[in-house]
Amino acid sequence: MKVLVIGGGAREHALCRSLSLDPDVTALHCAPGNAGIAEVAEQHQVNVLDGIAVADLAGSLGVDLVIVGPEAPLVAGVADAVRDRGIPCFGPSAAAARLEGSKAFAKDVMATAGVPTARSYVCVNAEEVDEALDAFGPPYVVKDDGLAAGKGVVVTEDVAVARAHALACDRVVIEEFLDGPEVSLFAITDGETVLPLQPAQDFKRALDGDEGPNTGGMGAYSPLPWADPKLVDEVLETVLQPTVDDLRRRGTPFSGLLYAGLAITSRGVRVIEFNARFGDPETQVVLARLKTPLAGVLLRAATGTLELQPPLRWSDGAAVTVVIASHNYPGTPRTGDPITGLAEAAEHEKTYVLHAGTKLAESGEVVSSGGRVLSVTATGSSLATARERAYRALDVIDLDGSHHRTDIAARAAEPR
Ligand code: AMP
Ligand code: GLY
Repeated sequence: MKVLVIGGGAREHALCRSLSLDPDVTALHCAPGNAGIAEVAEQHQVNVLDGIAVADLAGSLGVDLVIVGPEAPLVAGVADAVRDRGIPCFGPSAAAARLEGSKAFAKDVMATAGVPTARSYVCVNAEEVDEALDAFGPPYVVKDDGLAAGKGVVVTEDVAVARAHALACDRVVIEEFLDGPEVSLFAITDGETVLPLQPAQDFKRALDGDEGPNTGGMGAYSPLPWADPKLVDEVLETVLQPTVDDLRRRGTPFSGLLYAGLAITSRGVRVIEFNARFGDPETQVVLARLKTPLAGVLLRAATGTLELQPPLRWSDGAAVTVVIASHNYPGTPRTGDPITGLAEAAEHEKTYVLHAGTKLAESGEVVSSGGRVLSVTATGSSLATARERAYRALDVIDLDGSHHRTDIAARAAEPR
């Protein structure tokens, strides 16, 4: 099978790494890729938001499957353009990707599907904003309706901060604060059959102890030793299957990766958000534990034959990933700084470095080119071992001005 992956983050590097280890994959292409992906896939330049250009590239490469990684091309209709060309594509249509592209649309789907989520108001002017803030009280949760790379959400005790963020958005969702640990649960679906993956936990805040601003994600781990073993079955029944069924009934079937961001509250599981693609950095740890070769599963989802898929096989071990971010991320990041120690880090046992914002400079050096730069990933028989390995490898990597969290998976790895 010949495969083309669209995107160039650590999630796409994780996807490409798994695909490169899959014996069914005979050729692997990625556009645009990055300096790490270049080691496992042939890279191509394309405007990833241009569906026709992506379909042309897929056609000229003669690939059997296109996998669209990030949300922006999905929301722009890239999967539609590829499918229109008769090429199987893993990723939802633009219409179904609105589940991520509009928080208000996601709330509407959850309401008709009976999926438990935070109570919310959609506001378009200052009066509505003030009423909603007043109705819920602190802590305030204020979400830009549109795509914002994980940075459109403000959670704050300060009503002035909440109000300022709300007024800076065209359309804003203001909702009830959900208390409790967060879980990311991914499911692969062809629009009918839903195949959940293993849950992971992401660390969204920039600083240790969940302080600082929201980011795209600073680290992740899987499995979740503290979670109810019945969690996956429960979420399949109450969240994932009803959502997929509702979108099919609306005439906009969702095929691809359905990502449920969940809060485990004292009153039960609630959906915080849906995404229409693999999460980053959770994918790095989920795929590290998946033993079933990936390409066949994604092809079945893309061709509507997921019901034929045998149960997925998982490693009993653990995986931890820690993100190294550029100076000033999640603000405007500084880029172009050289990265050293990558080869040494990769020699560490059961550890690998996935690239996000990196590129090969003309000098031949690997330099930073984005906010999240690397995702240092390790596996082990326990979370404690995986965590220790990831941090040991991270220690030998040098990127001037960079920062990372030191507490990824720390609590979960403690003896229970
Ligand atoms: P989202 O982009 O919707 O996932 O929001 C980003 C992050 O903001 C989430 O991962 C949570 O940590 C936090 N958040 C979002 N909605 C809520 C909520 N209703 N209650 C508490 N925290 C929330
Ligand atoms: N890790 C959060 C996300 O992918 O949206």
